Amino acid sequence: MQADDRLIVALDVPNLLDGGNIVDQLGDSVSFYKIGLGMLTGGGLALANELKQRGKRVFLDMKFFDIGATVEKAVAGIAQYDLDFLTVHGDPHVVRAAVAGRGDSATKILAVTILTSLDRSDLDVCLIKDGDIQNLVVERARNAFIAGADGVIASPQEAALIRALPEAAGKLIVTPGVRPAGAALGDQKRVATPAQAIQDGADHIVIGRPIWQATNPRKAALAVINELASA
Ligand code: C5P
Repeated sequence: MQADDRLIVALDVPNLLDGGNIVDQLGDSVSFYKIGLGMLTGGGLALANELKQRGKRVFLDMKFFDIGATVEKAVAGIAQYDLDFLTVHGDPHVVRAAVAGRGDSATKILAVTILTSLDRSDLDVCLIKDGDIQNLVVERARNAFIAGADGVIASPQEAALIRALPEAAGKLIVTPGVRPAGAALGDQKRVATPAQAIQDGADHIVIGRPIWQATNPRKAALAVINELASA
């Protein structure tokens, strides 16, 4: 069976040695990896570079948020690596700066709407305006698209609402919080299966622990690919 690049495997391990080990085990079954802040000090960028040399696609999950000038410089630095996806927070000034910093590189800028770990009481403490989280997520996605984002990160439960936005035409929706039927939820609360997430309009799904913590990661990845094939 061929790798399906709708599946992105999150390498949430501390360093490039552990990450490289998982990539070796997965072999040609996986073509797309996510590297996040947890591996930044453990050689994350070096592993990202190595994966590109090996013909893989790479999603660098940095979730940048700062004044525009700083975001622009940070993104310009990352853009030299020719990675595939890079995340920033979905505030319009951040997204505009990231798009400027990306310049001519093919790196797609994905906007984080509202972190799925936050609930309404967390947003209250952050002084985020009243309203149902789902509505705020859709509004932030719309604003991020208008500011030039190539796509958004959202929970699978929000994928269909975002996909229905006129501004979402031609944009990417990438969903973490995906669990194959029967897999442990871990700390994920609002989950969907791979097939459901794709049917609801996601272009890519991000799965971490159910694959890299599996006794046989390759078998776990192939089961997801099999499910995607029938979605
Ligand atoms: O192991 P699991 O499949 O839960 O990993 C999901 C990945 O997606 C992790 O890297 C996590 O940080 C990331 N993520 C998430 N929810 C978000 C944004 C990113 O779970 N809203």
